[in-house]
Amino acid sequence: MELNITTFKFGEQPQVTLPNREFYKVLGEAGIRAMVKRHYELLRESGIQHLFPADDAAFEQAIRNSADFMVQICGGPQYFNQNRGKPMMAARHKPFEITMEGRNVWLNCYKQALLELEAPENLIGSFWNYIDIFSVRMVNTPI
Ligand code: HEM
Repeated sequence: MELNITTFKFGEQPQVTLPNREFYKVLGEAGIRAMVKRHYELLRESGIQHLFPADDAAFEQAIRNSADFMVQICGGPQYFNQNRGKPMMAARHKPFEITMEGRNVWLNCYKQALLELEAPENLIGSFWNYIDIFSVRMVNTPI
């Protein structure tokens, strides 16, 4: 299946559509957590590994935080709000230098994790559309 990265100019704020709830129903909480773990494993070997915690315990905590968010966004329990407070994603990403190229790397790691899933293509596509667009809003560094 084709998962394409949409091109945007730095500073654009495209409107996001949440993933289809069926994606959560098919994967369940455990499936979403496994997907996020796989994404982070791939990030750790990627060209943007320097952005993520080197320490194993901190890295595991980063996986938990990100999985809490994705479970919540996909329609599951509000774990992120309970554990971390309001999402404020752009603000949370501000300390990290995220470029459009960094976004490409981040998305390509997700692409690989998604292509390993056993789920209907339209549902994988719906999650992809969400991260493809939302990730543009995390880019905070031109070049
Ligand atoms: C544009 C590419 C992106 C890059 C390079 C990036 C990078 C990072 C980094 C370096 C962190 C801090 C370390 C960590 O806790 O993992 C982080 C945290 C996080 N990111 Fe991203 N991110 C990107 C896009 C996204 C997107 C699109 C989402 C959600 C759809 C997201 C959700 C999160 C969450 C939930 C956290 C944890 C925040 C916290 O608990 O404080 N990120 N990200």
